[in-house]
Amino acid sequence: MESIAYFNGNIVESKNVLISPYDLGLLRAYGVFDVMRTWSNRPFLLPEHYRRLRNSAKELSLRVPLSEKEFAAVVENLLRLNAFPESRIRTVLTGGPSPDGYAPTGKQTFFILIEEIVPLPDEVYVRGAKIITVDYHRERSHVKSTNYSAAMKHHKERVKKNALEILYVHEGKALEGSASNLFSVKKKRLITPKDDILPGITRNYIIRLAKKLKFGVEERAISVKELLKADEVFMTSTTKNIVPVVAIDSNRIGPGTVGPVTTQIMDCFIKYAGQQANQPDRIV
Ligand SMILES: Cc1ncc(COP(=O)(O)O)c(C=O)c1O
Repeated sequence: MESIAYFNGNIVESKNVLISPYDLGLLRAYGVFDVMRTWSNRPFLLPEHYRRLRNSAKELSLRVPLSEKEFAAVVENLLRLNAFPESRIRTVLTGGPSPDGYAPTGKQTFFILIEEIVPLPDEVYVRGAKIITVDYHRERSHVKSTNYSAAMKHHKERVKKNALEILYVHEGKALEGSASNLFSVKKKRLITPKDDILPGITRNYIIRLAKKLKFGVEERAISVKELLKADEVFMTSTTKNIVPVVAIDSNRIGPGTVGPVTTQIMDCFIKYAGQQANQPDRIV
């Protein structure tokens, strides 16, 4: 069955989200997006996602055409119409079609797609994952731009090396994943890069959660050298949740198994995320 989407003010089947070949999102990568998910079939951290989308848009002189309230109402409606057990909510905003393929006309393209979430295999969370490094840093890293060409370029290599994610490293520093944020654990303290990253909604939630669990948290630069000596490493993202990392390129992290701090954070995250989506008072 076709999923139901929102496209420039209308509710349509996703096959009818028809975008002009002159769209500046396609021709110039002039666009921003957001990916949110449901827990217990309720949007998780919607205000944070909306705010980030609005800020990303503003940075590129785009404008989210819906208020937060209107956005929440459209998402609610789409979730009801699609009725997946758990959903990924993908919102895309581009500069829209331009007759000369260059000058924005102000007529933006805005759509919201709902897809069923397919979780990663359990094995990833039980045994941990391998990741590979690529020397790269994203321009305007705090903007969630639609330009993922570095990730696409290295996709084949990642699959060939049986790695779950690409870690961007630059000038000796470990930054972020191609679609996730990085945490390392040393002596029960969490360290996560602060600059040159997308401020992940899951990252920010995990920082709050870790503090609630009385772990120390440092937001600062991590060198690749320091990262490889960590006791534990994990990556965070909306759709992958918390992924334990047991190998980076050919280097084993700690004993090469999922560590106790990562396990505690993963368990609490799943518990709180499921509960929090369903209640007005925030737990974290
Ligand atoms: C470059 C990048 N960093 C980090 C993240 C994680 O962000 P979030 O936790 O909001 O999904 C993403 C998500 O796609 C991303 O693309």
